[in-house]
Amino acid sequence: MIFAVVKSFIFQLVIKVLVVFTLFKIFTSNYSNDFLVNYIDELFLVVLWGVVLHQFLYFDYFKTKIKNLPRVFGFKNIVEKSVFNWKDLRSENKKITYFDYVESIKDGVIVLKNKSGLIDYDLYEKNSEQIKHYLKTSTLKIEKVRDNGIKIDTKDRLDYYNWDGNKFLKDGFIFFGLDEQGQEIFIELNKTTSYFINGQSGSGKSVFITQIINGLIHNLDKVSKIFLLDFKGGITFHKYGKISKKIIVGYQLDQLHKIVDYVYQENKRRMKFLKDKGLEKYETDPIFLIFDEWAEVVESCPKKELDKNDYLLFQQTLQKIESLGQLGRSQNIKLVIQTQRGGTDIISSKLRGNLQSRILLRVDNNDAVKMCLGSLDYLEKLGNIDPLSFPYGRFVFLDSSSETGLKVRYGQGSYIEPKRI
Ligand SMILES: Nc1ncnc2c1ncn2[C@@H]1O[C@H](COP(=O)(O)OP(=O)(O)OP(=O)(O)O)[C@@H](O)[C@H]1O
Ligand SMILES: [Mg+2]
Repeated sequence: MIFAVVKSFIFQLVIKVLVVFTLFKIFTSNYSNDFLVNYIDELFLVVLWGVVLHQFLYFDYFKTKIKNLPRVFGFKNIVEKSVFNWKDLRSENKKITYFDYVESIKDGVIVLKNKSGLIDYDLYEKNSEQIKHYLKTSTLKIEKVRDNGIKIDTKDRLDYYNWDGNKFLKDGFIFFGLDEQGQEIFIELNKTTSYFINGQSGSGKSVFITQIINGLIHNLDKVSKIFLLDFKGGITFHKYGKISKKIIVGYQLDQLHKIVDYVYQENKRRMKFLKDKGLEKYETDPIFLIFDEWAEVVESCPKKELDKNDYLLFQQTLQKIESLGQLGRSQNIKLVIQTQRGGTDIISSKLRGNLQSRILLRVDNNDAVKMCLGSLDYLEKLGNIDPLSFPYGRFVFLDSSSETGLKVRYGQGSYIEPKRI
């Protein structure tokens, strides 16, 4: 590093001296016909230095992947930016900086060593976004290995896998996916909360919900009712309707009104029961109200100018759902709302705020990440993961079911073939 600083300093100085010297020569000359003869020595010197500088520039800048060349006449930033050679991060025994070299690459783990003393960990940490981009990975962990080494772990430990009923169905629990260590993420049925699931089209939201529903069906004896609302014409949910009387599927407006009103009245009844008995929480039989693609529900609102009554009825239903989000918790009434568009035009902040647990699948912008998780900080905490390049079924899960507060998990949901539902 010291060497790089000195080299850069000398380089800057030499350019400045050269420019000043050349300008001085030109302005103090009287441009006679024999200019070339008089100044041939200086011109030779300039050409010579030009060659040397070109070499210097070539090795230090052009070979690197850094696009913005540091300002030649300023001293700022020059060293740091000139020392990386991204291309070599992918090949063993290659120099990355003046002193850092790639010692080994195995199973997606790159180990870098520093020949002389301390490795500049901050340099890698600061440039992690660029490294990630260059290595085309959505997961990247940079760790220090003693004082003279760095481990860049790009391995994706969350591979694709199929649903396995033997492993993922468990009494009293709901399966959500596997974590980075390959451990099953199970949430106790009576600790489940309300869920907001957000991801772009095709990110795996419906498949993800199917996992939850499979878990609920396995525990049907401990569930009061499951309402499945699917305004994409009943494609995702219709097959569940035949399983049990406890499962009710709806895909039309009149069914939506009926179902929501039923749950709303049941919530009121349970509230009264708690009040009469002097209890705080309704302990048994949760009711689940699950929506596949909430945006479709909202957009099926009748036009006010065409039919005012239908419009008002729809607004009432929306208010009842909001109220269930707000008041349903103690009565064991849970909402699962899944959507590809999480903006306030689709889901009110009041309703979203009452869906305590969040599941983020692949999205196409960071605003969606913020909207779902509340902050981008979790991504860094989980090792600079990138939801914009998540594969199918990959998720960040803000789980509010634990007593110790919000737990952040990173995992992969299983793939469920439609015929296995
Ligand atoms: N966990 C998974 N593992 C592997 N592939 C998956 C997984 N989840 C989903 N897929 C694939 O992605 C496709 C789309 O999944 P899904 O229908 O769940 O997406 P979606 O987010 O609900 O999309 P849309 O918003 O269009 O309804 C599936 O048909 C499947 O091929
Ligand atoms: Mg879907």
